[in-house]
Amino acid sequence: MDFVFVEKLLVGLLAAVVGAIVVSKIRGRKLRLPPGPIPVPIFGNWLQVGDDLNHRNLAAMARKFGEVFLLRMGQRNLVVVSSPPLAREVLHTQGVEFGSRTRNVVFDIFTGEGQDMVFTVYGDHWRKMRRIMTVPFFTNKVVQQYRPGWEAEAAFVVDNVRADPRAATEGVVLRRHLQLMMYNNMYRIMFDRRFESMDDPLFLRLRALNGERSRLAQSFEYNYGDFIPILRPFLRGYLRLCKEVKETRLKLFKDYFLDERKKLASTKAMDNNGLKCAIDHILEAEQKGEINEDNVLYIIENINVAAIETTLWSIEWGLAELVNHPEIQQKLRDEMDAVLGVGHQITEPDTHRLPYLQAVIKETLRLRMAIPLLVPHMNLHDAKLAAYNIPAESKILVNAWFLADNPEQWKRPDEFRPERFLEEEKHVEANGNDFRYLPFGVGRRSCPGIILALPILGITIGRLVQNFVLSPPPGQDKLDTTEKGGQFSLHILKHSTIVAKPRVF
Ligand code: HEM
Repeated sequence: MDFVFVEKLLVGLLAAVVGAIVVSKIRGRKLRLPPGPIPVPIFGNWLQVGDDLNHRNLAAMARKFGEVFLLRMGQRNLVVVSSPPLAREVLHTQGVEFGSRTRNVVFDIFTGEGQDMVFTVYGDHWRKMRRIMTVPFFTNKVVQQYRPGWEAEAAFVVDNVRADPRAATEGVVLRRHLQLMMYNNMYRIMFDRRFESMDDPLFLRLRALNGERSRLAQSFEYNYGDFIPILRPFLRGYLRLCKEVKETRLKLFKDYFLDERKKLASTKAMDNNGLKCAIDHILEAEQKGEINEDNVLYIIENINVAAIETTLWSIEWGLAELVNHPEIQQKLRDEMDAVLGVGHQITEPDTHRLPYLQAVIKETLRLRMAIPLLVPHMNLHDAKLAAYNIPAESKILVNAWFLADNPEQWKRPDEFRPERFLEEEKHVEANGNDFRYLPFGVGRRSCPGIILALPILGITIGRLVQNFVLSPPPGQDKLDTTEKGGQFSLHILKHSTIVAKPRVF
């Protein structure tokens, strides 16, 4: 570090301290801010609460500070909402006011400062992107068009696991098969393409780049430079790496998928019985001048992250819970045998006739919420929540995991008990009809992918439980279900090895 830089840093720090004190004096007099720990200049509450603002730590703070509290993380205001009435206020009643998204220094890079759909502010661009994406991705017609493909992909997983003699003895990492399946499920929709095997070089590159993007974006290690702008120079290397990954990844989407599809479209009639795949619809919007090529690439980026990982994590959590609760696994198998007949391979329409399967999925999404804090919301302008002032551009986290895990609201919430959704919670759906249970959010910024995610979960979990008895590897009683949280993600820390003993029909 050179001397001039240190001098600048000290002057900057001093100016920021004075500025922060002045601002907090002016603000404190005028505004009624939500409760929270007392902040110190510059750092706010960062030194007190640390980096790992995961759903459990935030739930512990809610018990102390109440249903809404404020954390000052350096320059950023973070408002945490932890009760169903206030979740309703943020996501529904004041859905427009709180319907924007914050980004941080890293998400700015990965989304081209909001040229995508998921991380853009509430307004014309978001409305246009959501409209353009709806027909190709988020309708029942899409489900019906692609469900035979999803059923075929689940069948490939079953066949490949059956063909591996280790699966029935020492066990296999099912996630590896399921990951390929999820890529294929979504790449069929996007590009009418699939990857033959886990060793396909293009699949390996894509998976590595998506993995790196997630690691870089979900990590807490860049918080300091995001919260405290004068420390940002120390983040230069990290941000440079983010830019490299972003550029390489978008180039891969363009060279190997987008341009290939354009070439195909210009040389022969579209495949798939003349049916268009999603990117054909998106390219039409580009041709009409509604969006530009960057927007097209960011749509592909959004689907790679929002659709593939979240669904994969949920399948992985569901299987882990079923392995750790063999009686629930058997009950699910019995239901499918009884309703569908032994050996009949479950299809999408069957999933609607299997209430216990639906309950297992809902319980997985409750206890092991893939996005436990939703994707952060934001108010563009000064707003009011409960009796408090919320300064413009605050990051609003709805602790959806806590809403669904609060013992004051749920019976024995820490248990994995699908029966609750057939008994005391039988009216609760995953679509947000109850503000205690929001695995996909609710309202304007809720997850449009729910329409695809639920059938894929049903087909995949159903097929695996129909065809195998799943158990922990030899010498282990249970699978390790330690959680790994990120900025707003939650997945299983260790990808489990699972013994899959084929059933004989
Ligand atoms: C089990 C799987 C999934 C879960 C748990 C999940 C959950 C969520 C959640 C919690 C949000 C944020 C809601 C909010 O901020 O209020 C979200 C947003 C979103 N999800 Fe999903 N999702 C899943 C699968 C999918 C799939 C399959 C797709 C696409 C095919 C998808 C596309 C999106 C998009 C585009 C958004 C952003 C919506 C917006 O900002 O307007 N998701 N998802």
